[in-house]
Amino acid sequence: MHAAAPPRPLISRPAGPISGRARVPGDKSISHRALMLGGVALGTSEIHGLLEGEDVLRTAAAMRLLGAEVERGADGVWRAEGRGVGALIEPEDVLDLGNSGTSARLLLGLLASHPLTACLTGDASLRRRPMGRVIQPLAEIGAGFAARAGGRVPLAITGAAEPMPIRYRLPVASAQVKSAVLLAALNTPGSTSVIEPEPVRDHTELMLRHFGARLSIEREPDGARASTLEGQPELKGRRIRVPADPSSAAFPAVAALIRPGSELRLEGVGLNPHRTGLYETLREMGAEIQTLDARAEAGEPVGDLLIRAGRLRGIEVPASRAPSMIDEYPILAVAAAFAEGRTVMRGLAELKVKESDRLAAIAEGLARCGVKVETGPDSLTVEGAGAPPKGGARIATRLDHRIAMAFLVLGIGAKEPVTVDDAAPIETSFPGFAALMNGLGAEIAEATPPA
Ligand code: S3P
Repeated sequence: MHAAAPPRPLISRPAGPISGRARVPGDKSISHRALMLGGVALGTSEIHGLLEGEDVLRTAAAMRLLGAEVERGADGVWRAEGRGVGALIEPEDVLDLGNSGTSARLLLGLLASHPLTACLTGDASLRRRPMGRVIQPLAEIGAGFAARAGGRVPLAITGAAEPMPIRYRLPVASAQVKSAVLLAALNTPGSTSVIEPEPVRDHTELMLRHFGARLSIEREPDGARASTLEGQPELKGRRIRVPADPSSAAFPAVAALIRPGSELRLEGVGLNPHRTGLYETLREMGAEIQTLDARAEAGEPVGDLLIRAGRLRGIEVPASRAPSMIDEYPILAVAAAFAEGRTVMRGLAELKVKESDRLAAIAEGLARCGVKVETGPDSLTVEGAGAPPKGGARIATRLDHRIAMAFLVLGIGAKEPVTVDDAAPIETSFPGFAALMNGLGAEIAEATPPA
């Protein structure tokens, strides 16, 4: 099923300033949720600025197999004709979710309260990632699972005919797990609560409300946030404008910071406070990043970011900030390699179960580029020299889009070019990455595969 596509190596050469204006593609998290909720609302949802990356297209294809009409109009606007809450149909074929952990975990949630059986699979990276974290609460709701060892895909789910509301305290800081439970709660009678000791992104809650669901948020005595959804609401089709993805904006932003003389404006970036930990950290490191034209779109805060190159200094990044920048450690580690002094990042255990073991991938890649780096069980220390690192290495991407983009950015500012062995995974979240970067002054080109 996964005929291995030939690897697509790219090389990034030291370049001039990274300057101009750009809008990076739509937010991946919000795009998945817009398609899923659009598919279970009644009537038409119009989605503007949907991320047309492979991960989100996998969600679109899955929603079609589940009976929703989801199409891209000639005007670039996506339209979903939903089936109504609880009315998804049994898919005739396997749901192949490619590289997308978000598709897999959130769809399992949606399916858990439908009386149907579905089989899920994915690429070599997704087949290694743990699904037990969603299987556990969804089984409490009443869904049945047959999964590979360690709760991995391929797996089959049979949703509950009579789903039970639960009160679930997240054992890991994961928006995917929280969202899976809330999506299962949609077709569950009564109220389902998810308690998060460490707050994680809240796009699911914001969008559920946008579609008309009743969702309340309260504080537990220990300060944890409890979100409670009243089951079986009537969701109505809505218009959604997807902000530019702050996790994608991070790559050109750091490229501009590390390349002297750069001045870059990134437009319409999502600035949900649960997603902006990287920008806070970079500002603490001395970066000049201004927010302009702050506004709200479809319940989400948005603004332009104006970034100017400048000197960065190493800092200690608190573990408590990890959930708000969990996808940004690869590019933060690259910024840290250019900074003066030591940057210590803690609370990184979750990085080991992303598209690759990112803790290992970052450490290995930086070491190859001549950067002094140390890892602990859940920490990473990067010694920045306050000057461009050597570069001049070939980096193993490990089917991980963010590892590929982070090291291509390192190549923009390093002394010698950096090659990534396979840039194809970038299409999962940031189609057109190399072209956008080159339009701003980068020099990223096809590289020859090894003989
Ligand atoms: C996501 C949540 C995060 C993040 C992923 C997208 C989401 O994963 O890393 O890229 O859309 O909910 P976890 O929930 O595993 O932390």
